[in-house]
Amino acid sequence: MNIVQWIAAKRDGQRLSDDRIAAIIGGYANGSVPEYQMSALAMAILWRGMDDGEVVALTRAMRDSGDTLSWPDLDCPVVDKHSTGGIGDKVSLILAPLLAAEGLAVPMISGRGLGATGGTLDKFESIPGLTVDLSMDAIRRQVRDVGCVIAGASAEIAPADRRLYALRDVTATVPSIPLITASILAKKLAAGLDALVLDVKTGSGAFMKQPEQARRLAATLVQVASQLGVPTSALVTDMNQPLGRMAGNANEVNESVQVLQGGGPPDVRELTLQLGTELIGLIDAAPSRDVRRGLESSLDSGRAMEVFESMVAAQGGTWSGPLPCAAAHDLPARQAGYVASMDAEQLGWSIIEIGGGRKRLDDSLDRSTGLEMLVRIGDRVERGQPLMRAFCDVAGFERIRDHLYRAVKVVDQECECPRLVIDRVSSAISGEPS
Ligand code: URA
Repeated sequence: MNIVQWIAAKRDGQRLSDDRIAAIIGGYANGSVPEYQMSALAMAILWRGMDDGEVVALTRAMRDSGDTLSWPDLDCPVVDKHSTGGIGDKVSLILAPLLAAEGLAVPMISGRGLGATGGTLDKFESIPGLTVDLSMDAIRRQVRDVGCVIAGASAEIAPADRRLYALRDVTATVPSIPLITASILAKKLAAGLDALVLDVKTGSGAFMKQPEQARRLAATLVQVASQLGVPTSALVTDMNQPLGRMAGNANEVNESVQVLQGGGPPDVRELTLQLGTELIGLIDAAPSRDVRRGLESSLDSGRAMEVFESMVAAQGGTWSGPLPCAAAHDLPARQAGYVASMDAEQLGWSIIEIGGGRKRLDDSLDRSTGLEMLVRIGDRVERGQPLMRAFCDVAGFERIRDHLYRAVKVVDQECECPRLVIDRVSSAISGEPS
C-alpha cells in the first residue's frame, strides 16, 4: 500500500474505500503505519470529514483491531449505555445494576476522566478494594454470574483506538465527529451488544457546546451503530449544569446509591429511567410506560441496589455505607437574584484543581474531593445563601473560590431551568451482525 497517496486523497477531500481504511487501521494496530502518518491522516479526516460509509468502515476496522466478546451461553439480551461525558454524570453506576436487575446482561466498558469531565471508572474506584482492571475472562464470568460489570477497556479491546485516542489528544484532532464516533463505538461494539443507548450531552459542561453539534454527533453514532448491526438510540441531554447535586468521585458514588435506594436527586433518577426505558424499547415491544414502571420498582424495592452490591463484591470491593468526603466549605451568594447560568466546564476544572481529576496522565486522585450544588439554574437565591459546597482542604478551597464564583451567574430577572432531555435520535435498522 502507498499510504502517502491515501493521506493525500483524504487531504484533497476524496473518499477512502473500505479496503483502504481497513488496511490503514490494521497497519496502525500492528505498528507498520507510524504515528506521524496516522496523525496526518487524523488531521485530514478532521478537516475533510468522512461520509457515513467511511465512518462505518473506520468503526468496523477499529472494533476488529482487537478481541470481541460474544455471549453464546447467555439467554438474555446484552446491552450497554454510553455518555459523551459531563460533570456529575453518574448514570452508568446506577443504570448498569438497574438493567441487570431487569434481567439484561450489561458488560459496561467505561472510561476515565477526559478534559474537564469525570470518568465512571475513577468514580467507581472510590469504593475501597474495588478494581476495574479485569481480563476478558473475568468480564465474561461476572456478566454471567452477576448480570453486570463496569470495567476499563483491556489492552485486547479495540487497541487501535487506544493508540489513536492518545495520538489525537496530543495532535489537536479530538473534535471530529467521524473520529469520535469510531472511537466510542469501536469499544462499545467490541462487547457484542444486542442494543445500545447513547447519552449525547450538550451545554457548557459538554464537548458539544451547541445542541446542533450534539444532534449531528447523535445522528452519526446512531446511524453507524445501527449499520454495524446494533439497534441504537440516543438522547441529547442538557449539560449546562452538573447532573444531580454531587460532582467528584466518592460523593457521586454516594449519590448513585441514594438513587439505587429509591431516592436521590430527581434529575438523576429521571435521566436514568429515560435512558433505561429507551434502551429496553430497542429489544422489547412492551409499552414504554410498563418498562418504566418496572425500572421504578427495581429502584424503589432495593432490587437494583442488591445487584450493585453484588457487582461491587465481584470486583473486590465492599459497600458498607456512604464513602467519606473531605472537609466541607460553603460558597455564600454575593448578591440576591436568580441563577441564570453555570459554567459547568469551569466547575469540572475546579474539581480537577482540588485533586478530583488529573492534570497529567500519572496524577493520582483524591477521591474524597468534589462539589455539591446547592442551587440549580432558575432558582431564587438570597445574599449569603450557600450556592455550593466544596469538599477539599482549606488551601484547595482558596485556589478555586474565585473560579466557583465566576462559574455561577446570578441576575435580577427570573430565569428558566433548561430542559433535561432535549432530543431523541433513534433508528432500529439492523445491518451486518456485530
Ligand atoms: N470518548 C471516546 O471514547 N472517544 C472520543 O473520541 C471521545 C469521547
